[in-house]
Amino acid sequence: MPRNKGGWNLSSMSDGHVPVIAIDGPSGSGKGTLASAIAECLGWHLLDSGALYRIVAAVAIERGIALDEESQLAALAAGLAISFDDHTVIVDGEDLTDLIRTASVTAGSSHVAALKEVRAAILSVQRAMRRPPGLVADGRDMGTVVFPEAALKIFLDASAEVRAQRRYNQLKNKGLSVNLRALLAAIKERDERDIGRAVSPLRAAGDAIIIESTAMTIDEVVAVVYAEVEARKLAEGT
Ligand code: DC
Repeated sequence: MPRNKGGWNLSSMSDGHVPVIAIDGPSGSGKGTLASAIAECLGWHLLDSGALYRIVAAVAIERGIALDEESQLAALAAGLAISFDDHTVIVDGEDLTDLIRTASVTAGSSHVAALKEVRAAILSVQRAMRRPPGLVADGRDMGTVVFPEAALKIFLDASAEVRAQRRYNQLKNKGLSVNLRALLAAIKERDERDIGRAVSPLRAAGDAIIIESTAMTIDEVVAVVYAEVEARKLAEGT
């Protein structure tokens, strides 16, 4: 962690007083959009934990490291200098913002995310993001493993079909040519890997609020979650 040049602060790693909102769910459930909206409302920090697994996969592919070389990948993960700045992802001085969203890196990220040593290396990076006044963290194991004491845990779900359709619309809006059936197959494949893996599988924490968003708009989801934020008085003092 001290190798990180992104402004993260080691002294905050054990700060159990900084509140965390944990948002977990499958690919394309809208948790990233939800997390950004809540972080912005509260003026809190944002952790897109999936980006960390994407970065490890992207750099491994760039350096020719096989995606099952667990020790090498863990060493790589521990040594990267990552900075997130205004939706830009800089790794060892290189802008990887677009690269980490490509299809090959997306598929690769769920392979590296299944490796225990990689997850262990990334754990301290994630916890170091917990800084005042608070952190909104989204991923697969935020409420179960990384921040089990989070003040609010949300598990955001939606059918695979709706998630594929949302992703299709997003990519179409960016002017990219996409195939809905291929997107649905890729989402189902990633779900299986994320749910079925032995370490930190995707699942809702026992104390998470489960939101089934198949028939909801993102604004409706944000409103439901913000009501929970207010009920827990998390917005006070921010
Ligand atoms: O949320 P995302 O699509 O950017 O995540 C990329 C991959 O990383 C995905 O396959 C699941 C995995 N992941 C994980 O295992 N644990 C997290 N906390 C976040 C993402």
